[in-house]
Amino acid sequence: MLSVRAVVRGWGAAVPARVVTNADLAADMDTSDEWIRARTGIRQRHIAGDGEYTSDLAAEAAGRALERAGLGPGDVDLIVVATSTPDHTFPATATAVQRKLGCGIGVAFDVQAVCAGFPYAVTVADQFLRLGQASTALVIGAETFSRLMDWSDRGTAVLFGDGAGALVLSAEADAADRGVLGCYLGADGRYYDDLFVDGGPSTTSTTGYLRMNGQEVFRQAVAMLSMSVIEALARAGHDLADLDWIVPHQANRRIIDAVGKRLRVPTEKVIVTVDRHANTSAASIPLALDLAAADGRLRAGNLIALTAMGGGFTWGGVVLRW
Ligand code: ACO
Repeated sequence: MLSVRAVVRGWGAAVPARVVTNADLAADMDTSDEWIRARTGIRQRHIAGDGEYTSDLAAEAAGRALERAGLGPGDVDLIVVATSTPDHTFPATATAVQRKLGCGIGVAFDVQAVCAGFPYAVTVADQFLRLGQASTALVIGAETFSRLMDWSDRGTAVLFGDGAGALVLSAEADAADRGVLGCYLGADGRYYDDLFVDGGPSTTSTTGYLRMNGQEVFRQAVAMLSMSVIEALARAGHDLADLDWIVPHQANRRIIDAVGKRLRVPTEKVIVTVDRHANTSAASIPLALDLAAADGRLRAGNLIALTAMGGGFTWGGVVLRW
């Protein structure tokens, strides 16, 4: 029996040119490089410049992914952007990307699952592709979280950064063991208040700032990130020993290490990029994929698990063969 799969054809990333180190932050805020590194593993983050929007980063990353795939904007019939920092409340940032890249008419929308956005977006795109409702998808995670920071709150302002990453996924009819093999998503609204932005069109008519119960996030993140790997593997018909790489959402080095420990996966099999990007929310996984592919760790045929957790709380895992 032929099985249609969403196969990875290309990948790309984009970060703002401006790098802000921990020392730069410490010049304006009561914090230190030592505190930030010890608690989070973060060394630096990229911060978008004036007039640099989520859609700019998204379109740049997507353009690179298309180039790597050997495809053009005319080949794309689905754009899914995972973001919680859209250019505007509406239209969807996906339509801005569609316009900036010069894609033809197709399906374009945003998915909002905060830091779990990328597994959500891949899962949605996978279903369009497998059901024959699209043939080639751009799946993008893109954020300008710096715009949601309360820069007077050192407990959150040091944690986040801006960036974007993209995958090109194409439907292939005879791809039994390639591409997206298993997806798992979840959400639990009882945690709504533990990680949220205190503004929005329906409440305050302002954009608002990110607020977080850091210790509760930490506790739940370790459990949800680990569980998402296990559940996605089960749906893919694989187990932990089959994995070449785990690519977790990059929130905090201590969270990532705790997940590796809980799953009993050696640290060398876990991709970590939080040191250079900080937490870029929905962009963190595709940014990490791009980096691991660029430095030669991630190779064609590798079996990888993506896992993420974010505000809501939301969580999700994807197992795919690269
Ligand atoms: N610099 C220096 N000191 C700081 C800073 C800072 N940037 N931020 C907080 N502190 C101080 C606090 O004021 C507090 O001081 P006090 O003891 O005098 O009151 C002290 O450090 C300890 O504060 P805690 O909040 O208890 O620190 P904790 O060890 O919990 O670490 C952290 C805080 C890093 C936020 C941790 O809770 C964490 O990693 N949580 C997960 C949050 C996360 O990663 N969120 C990302 C979004 S969610 C996601 O992506 C999954």
